[in-house]
Amino acid sequence: MQLFEKHQRVSVDDYVIPLDYPQWNQERLIKGFREDYSERTRLIFQHKWNANDAIKSVVPTEVLEHMMPKPLVIHYHKDRPTKQFVPMHVDGNVGNIVHAAINMPVIGCDHKCLTNFWYAPNGYERVQKAHAMIYESGDLEVGLEYCMTDQPILFNTGELHSTANYNDWDRERCIISWRFKSYVSWEDAKEMLHTYLQPSPQMTDLKQLD
Ligand SMILES: [Fe+2]
Repeated sequence: MQLFEKHQRVSVDDYVIPLDYPQWNQERLIKGFREDYSERTRLIFQHKWNANDAIKSVVPTEVLEHMMPKPLVIHYHKDRPTKQFVPMHVDGNVGNIVHAAINMPVIGCDHKCLTNFWYAPNGYERVQKAHAMIYESGDLEVGLEYCMTDQPILFNTGELHSTANYNDWDRERCIISWRFKSYVSWEDAKEMLHTYLQPSPQMTDLKQLD
């Protein structure tokens, strides 16, 4: 994980926490992705893929029962472009709130694809859409800007966030976001993974990168 920006009134680990899980093996995850998921072509944001053994191995055994049955696989490339920007939202909906996910970098994760969390000093309004609650109004300031690189992170899906992809579309990108079941709060998720939580990285200057 690389960290590029942080609001002075937030703590990085209110939003994202790098995970140092000993079984993490990105090569194995990529191999499993190629075997089981990469040929599926219909949707970019696809909820309907069962967790294969490579994905399961990223999550401690005792935590598996608290994860949703199917991870969200986000995969795009030149034949399957998506929007450059995913708008500001929180995950889930009123009847199916999601508080936390383990996000896994698979392919093409670097500083060309940024995630932002947004800090709303006076609160904000949002509207319910099919799979997310979308920001509607209210003053916002950048809470956090970071990218995934080569390790999984615990991600607070209940905080307002967005993504921006500055890659050319011929560059393939894939991440897997495996959400916790809705009864798991952000604090619960941190507790379940407390052995593996890593300190936040130091700040990197994004302008110094190509
Ligand atoms: Fe999201």
